[in-house]
Amino acid sequence: MSEHHNPHEKIEKNVGLLAVLIAVAVSFGGLAEIVPLMFQAETIKPLPGVKPYPALQLAGRDVYIREGCYNCHSQMVRTLRFETERYGHYSLAGESVYDRPFQWGSKRTGPDLARVGGRYSDDWHRVHLMNPRDVVPESNMPSFPWLAENKVDGETVQDHMRALQRLGDPYTDAEIGKAATDVAGKTELDAVVAYLQGLGKHAPKGG
Ligand code: HEC
Repeated sequence: MSEHHNPHEKIEKNVGLLAVLIAVAVSFGGLAEIVPLMFQAETIKPLPGVKPYPALQLAGRDVYIREGCYNCHSQMVRTLRFETERYGHYSLAGESVYDRPFQWGSKRTGPDLARVGGRYSDDWHRVHLMNPRDVVPESNMPSFPWLAENKVDGETVQDHMRALQRLGDPYTDAEIGKAATDVAGKTELDAVVAYLQGLGKHAPKGG
């Protein structure tokens, strides 16, 4: 077999070309998985009832991200029986269309929070965030007492909503206009509790 007539051998002897062709071959797998998702209605359309976050919840979501809650909590119920029995219906893409960035996560030092809305009272959450051990004695979740002292800044919330509107989220100018009044006098604790209570509200019922 002569070298010149074996294209395979030519590629194998040219490291640069080999690397490029390997990259091309490997990306087919990724493209085959990702590209259809970009066009499937169910991944880009909100579920019925799913709307952009109201001002206070949006502020709470920012606090959630700032405090790194996602380091210990996922928001993604997997399609496994033991998960749906514990948390509720598995997560659907249409629930997180207005999550930028999404908070699905993968680290679960604490429980998944995708379905936590309505599971506890607002008061329970307040006590729990101030000092988890007051309601769950064996908890190793950190306390976040400063949230009760920090006030939500209305202008920041409005700026955030305006940015999301520009990205295509259907906020009306009226909603953005009254956002500062909506959060006036509210603490970051109020905001996080509002955010938590909204989680999973529009998920399908059942397991
Ligand atoms: C270091 C890890 C860690 C961090 C960071 C953390 N948590 Fe937790 N969280 C836990 C653990 C462990 C539990 C289970 C024990 C308990 O209920 O306190 C928990 C429980 C919870 C629960 C109750 C869930 C349920 O279904 O019972 C909520 C709500 C919660 N955390 C919210 C938050 C929020 C909001 C933040 C950020 C401000 C946060 N957590 C940060 C570890 C963490």
